[in-house]
Amino acid sequence: MFLDSFRVESPRVRYGASEIESEYRYDTTEVVPPGDGGAGWVVRPKSVTYNFKTSTSVPKLGVMLVGWGGNNGTTLTAGVIANREGISWETKEKVHKANYFGSLTQASTIRVGSHNGEEVHAPFKSLVPMVMILSLNFLCTRYLTIINMSKSMHVVDPNAIVFGGWDISNLSMADAMARAKVLDINLQKKLRPYMQSMMPLPGIFNPDFVAANQGARANNLIQGTKKEQVEQIKKDIREFKEKTKVDKVVVLWTANTERYSNVVAGLNDTMDNLMASLEKNEAEISPSTLYAIACVSEGVPFVNGSPQNTFVTGLIEFAINKNSVIGGDDFKSGQTKMKSVLVDFLVGAGIKPTSIASYNHLGNNDGMNLSAPQVFRSKEISKSSVVDDMVASNPILYSPGEHPDHVIVIKYIPYVGDSKRAMDEYTSEIFMGGKNTIVLHNTCEDSLLAAPIILDLVLLAELSTRIQLKAEGQDKFHSFHPVATMLSYLSKAPLVSFFILFALVTIVPPGTPVVNALAKQRAMLENILRACVGLAPENNMMLEHK
Ligand code: NAI
Repeated sequence: MFLDSFRVESPRVRYGASEIESEYRYDTTEVVPPGDGGAGWVVRPKSVTYNFKTSTSVPKLGVMLVGWGGNNGTTLTAGVIANREGISWETKEKVHKANYFGSLTQASTIRVGSHNGEEVHAPFKSLVPMVMILSLNFLCTRYLTIINMSKSMHVVDPNAIVFGGWDISNLSMADAMARAKVLDINLQKKLRPYMQSMMPLPGIFNPDFVAANQGARANNLIQGTKKEQVEQIKKDIREFKEKTKVDKVVVLWTANTERYSNVVAGLNDTMDNLMASLEKNEAEISPSTLYAIACVSEGVPFVNGSPQNTFVTGLIEFAINKNSVIGGDDFKSGQTKMKSVLVDFLVGAGIKPTSIASYNHLGNNDGMNLSAPQVFRSKEISKSSVVDDMVASNPILYSPGEHPDHVIVIKYIPYVGDSKRAMDEYTSEIFMGGKNTIVLHNTCEDSLLAAPIILDLVLLAELSTRIQLKAEGQDKFHSFHPVATMLSYLSKAPLVSFFILFALVTIVPPGTPVVNALAKQRAMLENILRACVGLAPENNMMLEHK
């Protein structure tokens, strides 16, 4: 059975004119070491009542992409226009219709409960309202602008997002879509009229942070000192907001992967040092960190879809200080997503993965950029840590410090274009000295996997700014910690407030554990949204049938 939408009837939830209020019993387990109240380890069930407040005044949302003219940026923009306009196109196989497959918020469901013994499901997006529905649109030179007001305040509609952004290449979105070679040609022809007048704003470029081969497309640049560049990005965001009349903006980095910037004491390790370095035009502040500084200054959420360390400690301190949302890193789209499922399954089944070899080849611009060793290193780091939490969870299999051999290789093969190949070999030790080897071959259009993830990231980043909570004993509601761990399901290397050594705000203590296992990440997200409407977490016990 399937419901389009539902309303929770409970003394623990109240639907007000502008917000949903809920009361939620958070049951956890506290672990107490020996000597701290007993002779051995003790575990104590713990219940804390939380109150949630979710604003239902759904904004008109603007999304500015850094790297708008890239494969992901153009594919997402094209996909949203195709959905909004109800475009269909013919291939040799069939007539295709636009859809949002691959988006957690738009194309997945949750189990609501049961009716007469039958399971009842509903769209994931029906849990909490996200972005309002708008209709009709017109185009202006720089932005895809949408007018006319809402039919419903409680439905997510990505079709209503107003897109804009920056790119160091000056091609129109229509020409950039053709350059990307991702979408079928018949679809491109139908989309061209909508995209040919959409022009990216000039971007901040620093050849030192990307592969030398990217210089050839850099013809649309913001000049000046780093401070002036940051000021220009801030101005761009304000002008975009003003021209498109959006209520809120989310900025997302889907530009080239950069090399890691060096985190150096006195340079970018603290907020004050980062700001002083900006004044001094220090070379080691990367373009992505400059965009992030601009967004945090403007109080605009900034999501990093690439693996580099945009969020140096000084930047994280700045975001916490301003209570401005940051999230990332690196879209979790293909090989890593699979890894965070497979290794979780193996370790959870008591099987011991001992060797993981991952090969990729791809032929798009991302692949060309990643062919530079210092840039590849960022991707290697982001892909490597993905099994750490699963390995650490099972000392029956792994002795302290032991880790599977884990190697990642990425090669640039122009011919395959955006159709990335990922080949993985997992070897595990099984019962009584046996070995099990699983080999996977994954072929996919990289950007068609990434685009719906970008959509989810911006919708969830926006939503996270509308949720407030307080635990019993606290007198004031507060927003989530600005480091948005809610986005971890969509990120290869989830950013947490982990390496902040000083608790600048007291709402969430530093030391948040990194969770990579996909099922846990999804459950976390779903259960938080359930809590917002006073529903218990999904426990899968089905006691009523036992
Ligand atoms: P792309 O190379 O096609 O697009 C990047 C765009 O950014 C280009 O148009 C480039 O001109 C522009 N750009 C570069 N530096 C810029 C700057 N400083 N300011 C403004 N624009 C700038 O790459 P694609 O395939 O769209 O991927 C984008 C990013 O997403 C890459 O870093 C990639 O590693 C990451 N990613 C992609 C995944 C996927 O499945 N497609 C998965 C995980 C991460």
